[in-house]
Amino acid sequence: MTLTLDHRPEAPAGPPKLRHDELLRAQRDTLATPRMRYSLLARMLFKPVDLLYGRAGSYTKFAMLEIIARVPYQAWERMGYWLVHRHARQSALARRVFERIVEARSDQDNEQWHLLIMQDLVQRSGHRQTWLLHKAAPWAIAFFYYHVSWLLFLVRPDWSYRLNAEFEDHAEHEYMAFVAADPDLEFMPDPGAYAAEYGRYRSVADLLRQIGHDERVHKLDSLEKMREPRVR
Ligand SMILES: [Fe+2]
Ligand SMILES: [Fe+2]
Repeated sequence: MTLTLDHRPEAPAGPPKLRHDELLRAQRDTLATPRMRYSLLARMLFKPVDLLYGRAGSYTKFAMLEIIARVPYQAWERMGYWLVHRHARQSALARRVFERIVEARSDQDNEQWHLLIMQDLVQRSGHRQTWLLHKAAPWAIAFFYYHVSWLLFLVRPDWSYRLNAEFEDHAEHEYMAFVAADPDLEFMPDPGAYAAEYGRYRSVADLLRQIGHDERVHKLDSLEKMREPRVR
């Protein structure tokens, strides 16, 4: 016997992939939009990153940022499972929480592609990475961010979403400003190491603009979730 489903749930597609002209517009929009007002906690994350990797953007700094970018989504996924069990008897609520878990997993995947692309660009550009700066330090910062994210989520989920929105806003501006400051990136072809999974772009400039736009989508998602009713 074959079972047929009227409605089959699908994994979220993730942020949209943009064409060259859309990417240029996205960059202009970001650079014309002021950065958010970053909280003390967000500045506590950005400051050590600037001190260790420099204020200016670089592939090594972006790789570092992508290691920690995944962390709040991991924390929310874990908290989501806790909430699903708590509300297992209310199917509508459990389903809503579960949809959030699926979304958090898809956002982790998206950040993982960013990280792999950055690592590939680091290797190709011949930058050296050290154990202390590129393994131990990101681990320590990610550890701090993970625990802050789930603790905030437990007390005030909107604060946890706000912190992530600030982190994503920072990343969005860093990528777009980096591309704007280096016109040579326009003539550097996208190596396409993960083209099958992430798409292939006409240049490294467009590849980085696409990542910057993903960060904006993540930011807007978090800002929207801040306004949604809380599930306890
Ligand atoms: Fe990212
Ligand atoms: Fe992001």
